[in-house]
Amino acid sequence: MEDLEHLTLPVTHPTGNYDVTIGYDLLGQVGKLSATEDHVALITDTNVGPLYAQQAAKQWENCVVITLPAGEAFKTLDSVRLAYEQMFAAGCDRQTTVVALGGGVINDLSGFVAATFMRGVRFVTCPTTLLSIVDASVGGKTGVDMPEGKNLVGAFKQPEAVIADLNLLKSLIKEEFACGMAEAIKHGLLSAKDVLPTLTQTDWGESLRNGFTADDRSAFMQLVHDVVAVKRDVVQRDPFEAGERALLNLGHTFGHAIEQVTNYDVRHGEGVAMGLVCAANVSYKLGFSTIDLQSVVEDMLKKVNLPVRLPRVDPEDVFNAMQQDKKKKGKKLRYILLKDFESAFIAENVPDDAILETIRDLQNW
Ligand code: GLY
Repeated sequence: MEDLEHLTLPVTHPTGNYDVTIGYDLLGQVGKLSATEDHVALITDTNVGPLYAQQAAKQWENCVVITLPAGEAFKTLDSVRLAYEQMFAAGCDRQTTVVALGGGVINDLSGFVAATFMRGVRFVTCPTTLLSIVDASVGGKTGVDMPEGKNLVGAFKQPEAVIADLNLLKSLIKEEFACGMAEAIKHGLLSAKDVLPTLTQTDWGESLRNGFTADDRSAFMQLVHDVVAVKRDVVQRDPFEAGERALLNLGHTFGHAIEQVTNYDVRHGEGVAMGLVCAANVSYKLGFSTIDLQSVVEDMLKKVNLPVRLPRVDPEDVFNAMQQDKKKKGKKLRYILLKDFESAFIAENVPDDAILETIRDLQNW
């Protein structure tokens, strides 16, 4: 693979290890990079499939392409059943490898299919959005949404390989690229504050679409690598979210609830961006952070075209939706708050009034 332009990030987990390969022109090399010889169920969606599935599928002699409807609304057990049915119809068995080709929804759903089809088959993921590269593809969380809330049914299923071809991000619409930046900024806030200026000073999405200079091309690859390394380090230390991994949910308790009450009109990354502002606001209001991080966070998010105010929603609805959060301990929600950069923590006993006030204050009236 010497001729490929890529960086490799090794990940270890309780039952093995895998590499995250980040680079350019990797899609046609997924089979070699993941040592997947044959018997592939390539799961993609109606957005990504028409663009890239053929190019990917032709490297395997025996590959069934399963194209699911695109979007968070289809991250359901019905879609999982559709995938199983097509796998049975194509003669898939325990030797089959499930290869995910898509964003976070396809990653999570395909991983769940791989975890459960015939009690588990190999899983390789090729994330096609910045958001799924920096977050969903690493760490083995898979699953689907339920009417009661996001990601409420799932399994841990570690991939055999993660292959992130940055060229595929050229077809992302601006808003989706920005969503990935929300998770990247979150990782910077958690434990890589040095990447934050580089992350936000250039419009990386625009440069990628217009054709990178050679310097920007490798700078972007390095940046993505450094941001993914934050997640890698956390999931290696805490693979099953016994403690520290919950910090990766910074901004997510608010974000998921906002997504849910807006019927997913707010994209995941946009919800995370709003959630980061909410978390900074609560942290300062309750005296946990000594500096007002909210304006710093807002400046960064605005630079990468992300919203920093909530749409007009009933604060009670958001608060009620937050109660489904999996970080709950007993009846009480736990929040990820910030003392400073690189100093997030799990806060218990946060007064409900403070949360409601933040949701009310940060609305775009
Ligand atoms: N997306 C958060 C996690 O993987 O733990």
